[in-house]
Amino acid sequence: MKKLALALMMTGMVAASQAAMTGEQVYNMHCVVCHGQGVAGAPKHGDKAAWAPRLKQGMKVLFEHAKNGYKAMPAMGTCSECTDAELMAAIKYNAH
Ligand code: HEC
Repeated sequence: MKKLALALMMTGMVAASQAAMTGEQVYNMHCVVCHGQGVAGAPKHGDKAAWAPRLKQGMKVLFEHAKNGYKAMPAMGTCSECTDAELMAAIKYNAH
């Protein structure tokens, strides 16, 4: 019985790590901590005025800043397990 439960748990974990997260999921798990309230000057989710000058830099720059870190913005926005695609989706969700 114990072995079966363990096997089920493991397949559950594999399934969870393989399914790509949406931008909204990543945002709610990692980015909201700072971007929800504007902690340390983080542009708030959906705040068009705050995001406009940042979006002007282009998505490539925003992605590099999110991936490598930028001032008080931590590298990967603390989502170290995120793929590039998931991080990009989270940036798009965050900025719009
Ligand atoms: C520990 C707090 C914190 C977390 C967590 C965080 N951010 Fe940030 N983020 C910041 C701060 C602060 C800034 C503003 C940096 C500045 O311009 O001074 C910022 C700026 C940004 C920018 C704009 C960079 C630029 O070039 O203007 C992007 C894009 C971004 N965050 C994406 C994300 C994403 C996506 C996540 C989640 C995966 C995330 N952040 C999680 C604090 C955070």
